[in-house]
Amino acid sequence: MDIAALNPSYGLDCLPMPIQSPWRADFPGILALEAEGQTYLDSAATAQKPQAMLDALLGYYAGGAANVHRAQHVPGERATRAFEATREQVARWLNAADAQQIIFTRSATEAFNLLAYGLEQQFQPGDEIVISALEHHANLLPWQQLALRRQLKLVVLPLDSHGLIDLAQAAQLIGPRTRLLTASQLSNVLGSWQPLASLLALAQAQGALTVVDGSQGVVHGRHDVQALGCDFYVCSSHKLYGPDGVGLLYGRTHALEQLAHWQFGGEMLLHTDYRSASFRPASLGFEAGTPPIAAVIALGASLDYLTSLDARAVSAHEAALHTELLSGLQQRQGVHLLGTPNVALASFVVEGVHHADLAHLLSEQGIAVRAGHHCAMPLLQGLGLNGALRVSLGLYNDAADLQRFFSALDQALELLQ
Ligand code: ALA
Repeated sequence: MDIAALNPSYGLDCLPMPIQSPWRADFPGILALEAEGQTYLDSAATAQKPQAMLDALLGYYAGGAANVHRAQHVPGERATRAFEATREQVARWLNAADAQQIIFTRSATEAFNLLAYGLEQQFQPGDEIVISALEHHANLLPWQQLALRRQLKLVVLPLDSHGLIDLAQAAQLIGPRTRLLTASQLSNVLGSWQPLASLLALAQAQGALTVVDGSQGVVHGRHDVQALGCDFYVCSSHKLYGPDGVGLLYGRTHALEQLAHWQFGGEMLLHTDYRSASFRPASLGFEAGTPPIAAVIALGASLDYLTSLDARAVSAHEAALHTELLSGLQQRQGVHLLGTPNVALASFVVEGVHHADLAHLLSEQGIAVRAGHHCAMPLLQGLGLNGALRVSLGLYNDAADLQRFFSALDQALELLQ
């Protein structure tokens, strides 16, 4: 779709027009919420879904559900083909070399747990796992608990004053005992792209495994896991305009070979008797039991939909809205941004105002933003905060959403300040 035709403001600074999303009508959920008086600005928590995804979900159930990889009957073969087609699409979306490098899990959190359990035997007491100070709980707790189980050292990379992982300190902290580095591509609180290439190079120089948390990053722009050079990449479907109940784990073939099997059951085995079993390699070896079939097939429809959009137009739209969000926040007295957000979201606190009070007044006015610790409690504590508000954008948001947010914010602040 040619966004310039619908939005003449792009590239023409002299003709400011309110930013409109040409894709809004593709998302029934955002329209339903709007009709209900709700302005949805919490897409970093979960995104609304395109009609194409809803059609695929209904199509699978209404057309006759069947289990995958287990049957030779027609419905089973149809379901298996559609399920595996999504694996191919995900591989293309991430530019993985082979679809077998993509494992479907139930969530990004489950993918991190798979890694922490699957790699457990690779570590010796005293080995170091390096994370960053901005990781959300999904990329903290599995490693923290692994470190406790195996007497490993969990090293936490500090941030610089802009909210970026401090590379100078990382160079000091990543060393010969580092066995694994894991870091977010894009912080779910600070909204800043992290210096991953340099960070991964530091870990790789020590022969460490590298994990990238793409939960937020995968939604904003296309990323190439081969160019990134990481061993593992984790993200989830529900933030990427797909259904919930599906996480994605990419692994380089050599890295996947280091994973021990961790959940046991149907379809992940090659052979079993009552006493012992042998298991399949990735990907099926890590997908024990009946997977979320409908959700995986529907994710394929979301990816088809996203692929049909003009990626540059989407980025331009998101960038324009983000600029408007930042400028509106910066114009308001007492508002302090967390870090230096450069895409998709902004977290903030207001001097003298408790975030929960502000969240309550915004919610009463139909504004759906996230408030609290954003599943990153240690980061908030490190910033000396017990909570903050976060506005996050999806490709369906537009200037009218931001206007409603700012007008509600002004009303709330008038009461509270
Ligand atoms: N990690 C998700 C968020 O940032 C849930 O809201």
